[in-house]
Amino acid sequence: MTLPSVCNESSASLVSPSISCIPTQNTPLKLGVLASGSGSNFEAVAEAIKNGLLNAQIKVLIYNNPQAKVVERAASWNIPAVLLNHRDFSSREELDLQIIECLQQHDVNWVIMAGWMRVVTPVLINAFPNQIINIHPSLLPSFKGVKAVEQALEAGVKITGCTVHLVCPQVDSGTILCQAAVPILPNDTAETLHDRIQIQEHRILPQAIALAANLNLK
Ligand code: GAR
Repeated sequence: MTLPSVCNESSASLVSPSISCIPTQNTPLKLGVLASGSGSNFEAVAEAIKNGLLNAQIKVLIYNNPQAKVVERAASWNIPAVLLNHRDFSSREELDLQIIECLQQHDVNWVIMAGWMRVVTPVLINAFPNQIINIHPSLLPSFKGVKAVEQALEAGVKITGCTVHLVCPQVDSGTILCQAAVPILPNDTAETLHDRIQIQEHRILPQAIALAANLNLK
């Protein structure tokens, strides 16, 4: 017997809070984005701003890998990009001090870790209290740390997803702002699953930034 299909699993997702309740800000947020890789989340934030879904400006991109593709995306949006290569610093704290200086020079008030593959320290966290946001490719508190998509596959869970949260000193543990659930399909590889998670990341990251800014006003 074939059961009727209620939805197409390959595109199914569940977002909470609902994507339809993006709050608006009267004053544009001044964002500094930290990214290490391809920058599709950076692009999603830039697109949301262009489309009027998020009242913000990306003041600066900071990246830590000289080959990171995100730098090309920043150039195409005419957004200044600053390389702070972690290999040039003697400690995480030294890197974070330089990040703070750069963010302050660019008059940033919200920090968005959009695929930033470095652990940040209290030095940075205390400089922007409750104003640092991270996106992570799992439904936290499951699968913290690196290779979250692979961890979900290895655990055999049937649903994973992505989480946007405030950053606190414990890795991937701060207040959760928004999550999207994504089903795992029988033949998924880490790549196919990550691709579907990223579609949801691009939806929830701009929304979560707006939510965080709204929370902060209260
Ligand atoms: C995203 O999937 C993000 O969730 C993940 O890195 C990817 C960056 O993609 N972040 C982490 O794993 C942080 N622990 P992008 O460069 O295309 O935005």
